[in-house]
Amino acid sequence: MMSQSLPTTHIKAVVFDAYGTLFDVYSIGALAEQLYPGQGLAISTMWRDKQIEYTRLITMSDPHNSVGSKHYQPFWELTRLALEYTLDRLKLDRGTPVVESLMDQYAKLTPFPENLGVLQKLKASGITTAILSNGSPDMLQSAVASAGMTAYLDHVISVDTIKLFKTSPESYALVEKNISVRPNEVLFVSSNCWDALGGTWYGFNTLWINRAGLPYETIGPKPTFTGSTLSKVLEVIDQNGHS
Ligand code: LAC
Repeated sequence: MMSQSLPTTHIKAVVFDAYGTLFDVYSIGALAEQLYPGQGLAISTMWRDKQIEYTRLITMSDPHNSVGSKHYQPFWELTRLALEYTLDRLKLDRGTPVVESLMDQYAKLTPFPENLGVLQKLKASGITTAILSNGSPDMLQSAVASAGMTAYLDHVISVDTIKLFKTSPESYALVEKNISVRPNEVLFVSSNCWDALGGTWYGFNTLWINRAGLPYETIGPKPTFTGSTLSKVLEVIDQNGHS
């Protein structure tokens, strides 16, 4: 796929979204299908949509300041509540063992196959690597460890410290608060087009990993780069990375 524009400076840090980008949120569909035959896809799709809807509802409603936590709940809790909503909405029984087994699986989601190799190569190149995620710190730590990625990520940054979810500018600002880089020295990588757009609006160079062949959002600028797998990161860094 085409790239839209070149970054204004060399990229010094690659910052990844977690859920959907490093970890496959739809991989949970196979277990959901076993538990509720015929409903796996519907469950995983509605679960994801509701989870993100709740983050937006809360951050839209909370004050954007240091006490912005009237409605905030950690992403792990919102994930559970979104699952409960989904099962109710699909009129499926939500007994404790079923919810717990789906949540256990969520704590160790399958990464996409090329992801670990891409992180290893980036780390070997010396560039700074990080996650910026809505995920709460403990769920991120669990997912990163179970995917064997701990050694290849310099920073795992959670919005939990400010209690404002993406796509608030405050959430993207956590990158420069945790890593000494300017936004235009960052390549922000997400499989969620809305997140790539939020990052582009913020001032990052962005790479949208469009695995499903979806159209661009019809609002806002296109991401700086688009690719179909995470391997595209290596190509972008080869051409625009730090020297
Ligand atoms: C995250 C969600 C948005 O990891 O995918 O931030």
